[in-house]
Amino acid sequence: MKKLKITILTENEVCAPLKAEHGLSMLVEYEKIRFIFDFGMSAAWKENADFLQINISDIKYAFLSHGHNDHTGGLKFFNGEFFCAPGIDKQRYSHHPGKPIRNLSMPDECKQVLKNSKVNYIDRFTEIFPGVFCTGPIPRITNEDCGGPFFLDDAKTIPDLISDESALLFDNGVLLHGCCHSGIINTIELCKKYAPNIKIHTIIGGLHLLHASDERLEKTKNYLQSNNINSLYLMHCTGQNAISYLNAKTLTENFITMS
Ligand SMILES: [Fe+2]
Ligand SMILES: [Fe+2]
Repeated sequence: MKKLKITILTENEVCAPLKAEHGLSMLVEYEKIRFIFDFGMSAAWKENADFLQINISDIKYAFLSHGHNDHTGGLKFFNGEFFCAPGIDKQRYSHHPGKPIRNLSMPDECKQVLKNSKVNYIDRFTEIFPGVFCTGPIPRITNEDCGGPFFLDDAKTIPDLISDESALLFDNGVLLHGCCHSGIINTIELCKKYAPNIKIHTIIGGLHLLHASDERLEKTKNYLQSNNINSLYLMHCTGQNAISYLNAKTLTENFITMS
């Protein structure tokens, strides 16, 4: 198997003494390729990278899984070339019943950084680095209940299907997701369609199952089992209940290696 190392730079419950926050950021090293996957909400990813003695100035590329501010808010501390799906800078909101509406858009200063940077907009399944495939936007092609109180306007009239969301598939069989708003079943079906020779065995990242119904959790578990996907490193927006239910591995260190 090709050598893959994922270092979690920040995450909701990243191992101390690293700084945790609601968000996700990882350093991906796959053979000779190195890039940042998402940037969390703030400078925490960079401060943690400094603590881990990772020289950020050596890293030339970054991938953005989608435009939510808990994945893009820290990108202003990065200087390099970006890969993401189109529409990542849309205004967007969430509204959970009984709570105030929240603006989840990428901060304006981060939008400005993207405007001044080289950005590769990926609108379809594409190999962006050797052996690393970006799914492009993930259509909701199955009847998976993706849920989520997301809107493109603060009047809550236009649902946000987060069409700027994409995931990464490695040719060693690892799938890396940021929030998975589009659903893990939809994502895997897309990968199977465009990369039928890559057998997914491991999923790393957030699966956005925090508020999932028992029915959805059961359906997800059955789907993963029937596809022999048994190695799960789940975090961020997955939710503790889903992490336990899906028998995800417990991270005792802030990195995952495979070789
Ligand atoms: Fe998120
Ligand atoms: Fe998100």
